Formats: sequence, structure tokens, C-alpha cells
Amino acid sequence: MLHSISHKSVCAIFCARKHFTNRFQFFTMFQYCTTNLFTDKIQTQLYAKFRPSYTDDIFKRFIDFYQEEHCDFQLAVDVGCGSGQSTLPLAKHFKQVIGVDVSEQQLANAPRDVQNITFHISPAEELSFIRSSSVDLVTIAQALHWLDLKKFYAEVDRILKPGGSLIAYGYGICSLKPEEAEHIFSHIYHEVLPSFWAEGRKMVEEKYASIDLPYPGWIRDDSLNIVKKCSVSDFIGYMGSWSAINNYNKTNSGDILDQVQHKLNSCCAMTNSDTPITVTWPVFMLMGHKPRP
Ligand SMILES: C[S@@+](CC[C@H](N)C(=O)[O-])C[C@H]1O[C@@H](n2cnc3c(N)ncnc32)[C@H](O)[C@@H]1O
Repeated sequence: MLHSISHKSVCAIFCARKHFTNRFQFFTMFQYCTTNLFTDKIQTQLYAKFRPSYTDDIFKRFIDFYQEEHCDFQLAVDVGCGSGQSTLPLAKHFKQVIGVDVSEQQLANAPRDVQNITFHISPAEELSFIRSSSVDLVTIAQALHWLDLKKFYAEVDRILKPGGSLIAYGYGICSLKPEEAEHIFSHIYHEVLPSFWAEGRKMVEEKYASIDLPYPGWIRDDSLNIVKKCSVSDFIGYMGSWSAINNYNKTNSGDILDQVQHKLNSCCAMTNSDTPITVTWPVFMLMGHKPRP
């Protein structure tokens, strides 16, 4: 469910300090994250509220793929799980689900009341708390581009059962309707923000075109979209969860989201709808089976 947010509270996010609550988290963030992404308390709350949820047809697509080779539904592991958007739907299919993320702040916003999900703070590259050959499915949503792939793939191969699957998926740059809203968004995204993104963003924009899965015969599916109707303030909340906006505001005076919100409000003023903006995110999925011996 989306909650509205004022531009003032978005401003507060950008002023919030970084939180490292223990040495372990500092060490892992330092070692495995090239930036201090996903550690700011209020920004991670924004993430939980405004990032798009994955639709049933996305889960159906990869469960169908998974079942081509394997039909055990004992244990799924969702790596880089953030606040649980990508973890929660797995609980309907698997007896046990483990969500793993390196950011304590992201996990603090994950649901705690689902009996068959447990969350662990850990880098994706060190999953020693998971037994070898014990996992049926490993998923990683919108996070593969942050990882040391060689180490991560070695851990995936160790924990997966033969015939189990690795699914890496995410969503690229969104497009907006009405067209005038798209022009406003497109200008900010393509003309103003490019130098304020971390390097990994490029891989998302390219829908992981340069990334291979470690398993022979792996496939990709770019046929699905996430579509959401939302208010201007909801869309501003979504943009507020971007590291590039945070980075821009650190080095420029004024809040760029004030300007975007003002322009989007003007362009949507004539509509009577509470949700005048339709946002479409293109989904990409990379799917592979661990070969059987
Ligand atoms: C864009 S979020 C995706 C969250 C969630 N899977 C989703 O789809 O909404 C990326 C997540 O990857 C996590 N992350 C980044 N580097 C990581 C690493 N080395 N090990 C584990 N998690 C990592 C971040 O903390 C963040 O929560």
C-alpha cells in the first residue's frame, strides 16, 4: 500500500545521518558496498513504502521455470532482500524462506510477522550460515549489480541443491503517463541525474545485458512489466528512495524534488483523479538451473 509523503519529509531524509549500529555492519558495508547506500534510516523507510511491489505474474514466471527441473518447495533464499518486497511472496510457495541483506536498516523495515520467513544480516558473498546443498531456489531482486559476482556465484553453487534454480531479476527505468509527466521525469533522469548514480545503476539501465549466470543454458525473459497508478506525492516518494536524488541534494542548493513535484502537480492539475500518474517499469529476469551431476 502506498502512503502519501510531503516534500518536507523527503527533505528530512536527505538531512538524516548515516547509521552504523554495530561493528559487523560497518565492516560488511565497508567491504561489500562501494557506497553507503541503503543504510540511512529514513531513506530505507521510504524504500519500504514507495518501491514497487513485484506482481504475481513475475513470481509465476520464475516458479514455472523452477519447476521445469525441480519440484521440491522446502527452502528458498532471497538475497539482497531489502525490506522484504521480493521475499514475502515466496512464503506462499516455500515451506521455509530466508531473506538476507547486508543492511540492518533495510531489514528493520521488513515484515516480522510471517511465520515461515527469517531474515539474516549478511553479505551475499558469505552465506556460511546456510548448509551446502540445502536450498531449492535462490532469488536476487534488484541487487545483483551490487555484488562481487565471483564470490556470490560460488556461494550460490554451494548452497543450491542440484537441479535448483538461481533467479536474478529487477526493473529498469520507468516510463510515465501522461506524456507531459514523462517529459518532466525524462529530463530529470537523463539530463540532471546521470552523474549522481553509483556505477551499478548502469547495469540496471541495461537490464543486466552484460551479466551472465554461472549455469549452462540459462535464459532471460524481458516480457513482463510492473504497472502502478499513483499520486504525484507517491511518485515523489519513489524518487526520494533513489541514492542519486540524495547525492544531488548534498551538492546542490535547494531540493530537486520540490521542483519536480511542482511541475508534476501543474501537469496533473486538470485531472480529477487521486492517482493521475501511471508508472510502468520494465522487468528483466535471468534464470538458470544448477546442473545435476
Ligand atoms: C535495490 S535494493 C533491492 C531490495 C529488494 N530485493 C527489492 O527488490 O526491493 C538492493 C539491496 O541489496 C542490498 N545489498 C547491497 N550489497 C549487498 C551485499 N553485498 N550483500 C547483501 N545485500 C546487499 C542492499 O542493502 C539493498 O537492500
